[in-house]
Amino acid sequence: MLEDIDKVLITREVIREKVKELGKRISEDYKGKDLILIGVLKGGFIFLADLMREITIPVDMDLISVTSYGNSTESSGVVRIIKDTDVNIENKHVLIVEDLVDTGLTLNHLKQLFNTRGPKSVKICTAFDKPSRRKVDIEIDYQGIVVPDEFIVGYGLDYAGKYRNLPDVCTLKKEVIERR
Ligand code: PRP
Repeated sequence: MLEDIDKVLITREVIREKVKELGKRISEDYKGKDLILIGVLKGGFIFLADLMREITIPVDMDLISVTSYGNSTESSGVVRIIKDTDVNIENKHVLIVEDLVDTGLTLNHLKQLFNTRGPKSVKICTAFDKPSRRKVDIEIDYQGIVVPDEFIVGYGLDYAGKYRNLPDVCTLKKEVIERR
């Protein structure tokens, strides 16, 4: 796996610092509020697990599984819900936890969906953000690390299902992507 990496773009240390900072802000902002974190699978599970442990107030969580990319490196623009949430979000403050915002189509869709279910608020937290790729205007309430317009893997982000387990965010060698 390591031989497929072109370069490390964001180290695990930098990620850890950002996650801590976000956790602290969230803990302060939601103090005394009924907060539920909703992680977006598959990619968001690592960030959610790390972020939750940096939050110092009581918090509930759930997961939703969506896909927009399939096995390609380009967004299809079609957001498909594979597994919906189980908990009732009525009268709760929802924070959607994503690994990456690219075109914004996924979050735009999810925010609209959750807003139909009677929450007190719906906000967005993302580990990584590629604002240069945005197709829809969407407000990111808790923005992690801004990344350039390069295809990245690691810390939950995959290429064709692989490389999610890399602790750093990396780019892949050209030949690895061309091999498919
Ligand atoms: C990625 C990422 C976001 C979405 C962002 O998921 O985890 O959910 O794409 O892209 P967008 O802003 O262009 O909508 P992906 O579809 O690759 O699924 P995965 O998390 O299961 O790998």
